[in-house]
Amino acid sequence: MEPAAGSAAVALTGVHKTYGTTRAVDGVSLTVERGEFFGLLGPNGAGKTTLVEIMEGQRRADSGTVAVLGESPWPRNTALLPRLGVQTQSSSFFVRLTAREHLATMAALYRCDAAAAERALASVGLTEQGGTRVDDLSGGQRQRLAIASALVHDPELIFLDEPTAALDPQARRALWQVLRDLKRAGRTIVYTTHHLDEAEALCDRVAIMVAGKVAALDSPGRLIAASSPTTRLLVPADRLSVARARAIPGVDRVTEEGGSVVLETLTSGPVLAAVDGIAGLQGVQTRTASLEDVYLALTGAQAPAQPQPQGQDWPPA
Ligand SMILES: Nc1ncnc2c1ncn2[C@@H]1O[C@H](COP(=O)(O)OP(=O)(O)OP(=O)(O)O)[C@@H](O)[C@H]1O
Ligand SMILES: [Mg+2]
Repeated sequence: MEPAAGSAAVALTGVHKTYGTTRAVDGVSLTVERGEFFGLLGPNGAGKTTLVEIMEGQRRADSGTVAVLGESPWPRNTALLPRLGVQTQSSSFFVRLTAREHLATMAALYRCDAAAAERALASVGLTEQGGTRVDDLSGGQRQRLAIASALVHDPELIFLDEPTAALDPQARRALWQVLRDLKRAGRTIVYTTHHLDEAEALCDRVAIMVAGKVAALDSPGRLIAASSPTTRLLVPADRLSVARARAIPGVDRVTEEGGSVVLETLTSGPVLAAVDGIAGLQGVQTRTASLEDVYLALTGAQAPAQPQPQGQDWPPA
């Protein structure tokens, strides 16, 4: 079937991909709008990389329709390639070149000049390592180079597969800024991550994949709001007993965790006022639901994603 020449950056309908008996992608339909920052989340083996590779044109879907910037990425669509930026989970490099030479080579392949390579190098904070051979870069530096390689030709649509996996906290934050700047410049970003705080901070919408299917798809805010309106209040245990906490009107559940008494409530205002009256608010912490709570609720029963062979110590005791 011909893909519909729509305005979406990516449009998938009923996409399936099976490896042997493994249904890696099992009927995925979704749309990524232009200019959107879209996150693919899910446990190991959920099918994220397979799905991204299908969008990139690196893998052929068994069935379904795939439209990327209004075109079919398969069979290999050479008109589409310069418009896409791709960082894969296992990137390959010209290992004997320096980082700068590697990027200059990538730039030349896309008919971009050396200045583009230098800009890409700077955008991931690798200017100082420009003269280092790719072989001699650290794991995180290589990952940054892979990201720079995906950005060097200023593509419209950027696919990043776990770009922040090996980055130190500073580099991770720096990359967030790079990605936010790209979004501000109108680029579309599709990326996978296991960092749920990061997805919550960056993504306009996320799809949570479980066993090849999309289990949830919406903005992080709406997913969180829909999942749990419960607020948790953590009160130092030496100031409030469990029995006293249970007696507060509006408290649905009380547990002890570490040195805290944890109160769950749908009416945090009045409950906080009551706690203030009994114990004061010094040291009291308030926790609302996060994307991680939504994720764990959807995937908890599924982890690990695949049945593990017998005799292996997994999950670790
Ligand atoms: N080339 C392949 N041949 C056979 N099976 C594969 C291949 N690639 C992936 N699979 C299987 O397909 C399923 C989905 O894998 P995929 O790499 O898409 O998951 P993922 O969500 O990206 O996981 P991760 O978070 O670990 O990167 C897994 O069960 C995996 O073992
Ligand atoms: Mg993957």
